[in-house]
Amino acid sequence: HTAPILPGTPSEVWRYTAELRNGPADTITPVGGSYTGPLIRLRRGQRFHARLENGLPEDTTVHWHGLHVPSDVDGQPRLPIKPGEAMTVAFDVVDRAGLYWYHPHPHGPNGGRVGFQSYAGLAGPLVIEDEAERALGLPAGEREMFLVIQDRSFAGDNELTYLDSGMGTMMTRMRGFLGDRILVNGQPDTAREVATRPYRLRILNGSNSRIYKLAWSDGRPMTVLGTDGGLLGAPRQYPFVTLAPAQRIDLWVDLSANEPGDELHLLSDSYQAGMMGDGMGDGCKRGSRRGGRMGNMMGGSELPAGARFDILPLRVTRRERGNERLPKRLAEDLQAPPVERDAPVRRFKLSMVMMRGFAINGRQFEGATVADDEIVHLGSTEVWEFVNDSMMPHPMHVHGLQFAVVGREQIGGGRGWSGLAAGLVDSGLHDTVLVLPGERVRIALTFADFEGLYLYHCHNMEHEDNGMMRYYRVR
Ligand code: C2O
Ligand code: CU
Ligand code: CU
Repeated sequence: HTAPILPGTPSEVWRYTAELRNGPADTITPVGGSYTGPLIRLRRGQRFHARLENGLPEDTTVHWHGLHVPSDVDGQPRLPIKPGEAMTVAFDVVDRAGLYWYHPHPHGPNGGRVGFQSYAGLAGPLVIEDEAERALGLPAGEREMFLVIQDRSFAGDNELTYLDSGMGTMMTRMRGFLGDRILVNGQPDTAREVATRPYRLRILNGSNSRIYKLAWSDGRPMTVLGTDGGLLGAPRQYPFVTLAPAQRIDLWVDLSANEPGDELHLLSDSYQAGMMGDGMGDGCKRGSRRGGRMGNMMGGSELPAGARFDILPLRVTRRERGNERLPKRLAEDLQAPPVERDAPVRRFKLSMVMMRGFAINGRQFEGATVADDEIVHLGSTEVWEFVNDSMMPHPMHVHGLQFAVVGREQIGGGRGWSGLAAGLVDSGLHDTVLVLPGERVRIALTFADFEGLYLYHCHNMEHEDNGMMRYYRVR
């Protein structure tokens, strides 16, 4: 690849190239034939090896999002791979069966490049499988769909544009990047042909900042099988699913009562997105194409936060009989950390810093510097409390572990954000939890096995790149 790409200019696509040296042939499968990184398929208990070569004109890393791995192979910004250099990583795959993912995590003196590099193509899904899950007989093969959902904007020549410059800078910093096209596995306007049987949809919100309100077009409830950290104890139904950036959701959808000719659309339903929604986007939407571009320059999007749009039509094309049933029980190994009544609570206040973005307890990213209250003990279980005192939602992510959500309360005003709460899936295990404006969310986490530095941050990539990220140390 050639010269570095300036923000705000049309970009080339950056891709992972992967070569399999050993292991089963389905270890690395391309997703959708687009920029999306390949699906990496691992088995719980195996050892994973990779050689990472950086062919980009700038530093990068590969972070294994959601995996419980030692600090030095976690792809953190303190251990960048320089252009033209390589790094070998190896770790044991100890996590529960589930959908995880990988993406870059570089952060230089001028801020992070997570948003830009992921946007340009460097992100992909990683699935961990195990025997217990296989024994459930959930839909597999072509009836198991891996769907990476992302929003992008295109220039007139169909090149990706990532706007983070000029007049858009402040807006993008505050709100995060919003594209005006929805892509599934790197492709616009895709549909799938399906049979009259149950399907399993394994969805990753790989967007920089967009929150989806996933729902079915015929109003049927969403049947959730699992979350970031794998299967729930039992399936649960929600009217819709609120999926924030970096989160995954595992869905069951049964088309056996449908007929050939039917269409069921996975869509994102509308919600109120404070000042960041319609107010920002609408004016731009009404204008000419050029007006739209102007709107974009101003940091608006032709598809504002909270807009309603289609994601993926499922077209029933054939009748097939199967006798698959939704299992009553899913996982036996789901262990939320035991929280004692007097477990220490560590508080994190999420707030805005004038002209600079967002902060955690008043602090922004300072490299591997860790404050006294960012040190935890190996083997301990703690409760972390995030209080969102800003006007934006923040999907908070903790590296190196899966946690349980043990409390969620509205303690302040919602700042105009509403319509998302009923779809927050707090059951199961997570590595990323959405904290809406005015909310106080508590999570229970156990720091097991590995000492050293890990990150915690907002996974709105523009918030993260602009400093809403810190290290914590396990000691
Ligand atoms: Cu997706 Cu720091 O992570
Ligand atoms: Cu991560
Ligand atoms: Cu944020």
